[in-house]
Amino acid sequence: MAGCCKPEAYERLFGARQARLDARRYRKRGLGGTSRDLVQLAGDVSGATVLEVGGGVGAIELELLGAGADRATNVELSGEYEEEAATLLAERGLAERVDRRVADFVTEPVEPHDVVVMHRVVCCYPDVDLLVGAAAAHTRRRLLLTYPRERPWTRVGIRAINLFLRISGSDFRAFVHPVARMKAAAQREGLALERRERPGLIWENAAYERLDGPG
Ligand SMILES: C[S@@+](CC[C@H](N)C(=O)[O-])C[C@H]1O[C@@H](n2cnc3c(N)ncnc32)[C@H](O)[C@@H]1O
Repeated sequence: MAGCCKPEAYERLFGARQARLDARRYRKRGLGGTSRDLVQLAGDVSGATVLEVGGGVGAIELELLGAGADRATNVELSGEYEEEAATLLAERGLAERVDRRVADFVTEPVEPHDVVVMHRVVCCYPDVDLLVGAAAAHTRRRLLLTYPRERPWTRVGIRAINLFLRISGSDFRAFVHPVARMKAAAQREGLALERRERPGLIWENAAYERLDGPG
């Protein structure tokens, strides 16, 4: 599978420069559009535990901690975000409340959390059933996803990005995965689609809820 679980392919693309840019942007302007909307979709997070998969510098979990979440775990395949993430955590005095791990979430043993977040991560992983299924299995209450809309223009855009990546020698590939596959993977783990929002032309946000409440 192209790029799957080869950390070096991810680290080339999601490297230290990207981490510096993300941290600088977050300090200056706070969360961007889709991540801000996704935090709204989380609802009341008072006392909740948050698992962010592929969370980069961790801006979303910082916001959720600010909104009352108790603690957070971030499992990120690229190790290149760690320095900037540690600086952000120290600046906000939150280092004790966040467990950051550099690993492939699909193979990393992690305990279930109340809220699980994957912001622009599904499009970076080849096996949608495996990734969304694992995220859903780790969700005690609510799973929040942001992924590219299934539209002709996103498919063309991702094809162009993949062509560029292939030419430049990268093993990483991006994907427009079918929403029906994500929904089925979440349902198999006991979650139901609660809401879908399309804030723009490119991205879609979705919230899934555990049917039988927190376990
Ligand atoms: C497009 S970036 C998005 C980063 C951040 N969530 C944001 O929106 O700024 C996708 C991230 O997902 C991470 N990622 C992809 N698959 C992963 C996996 N299986 N486990 C952990 N991280 C993963 C990549 O390393 C990358 O940092």
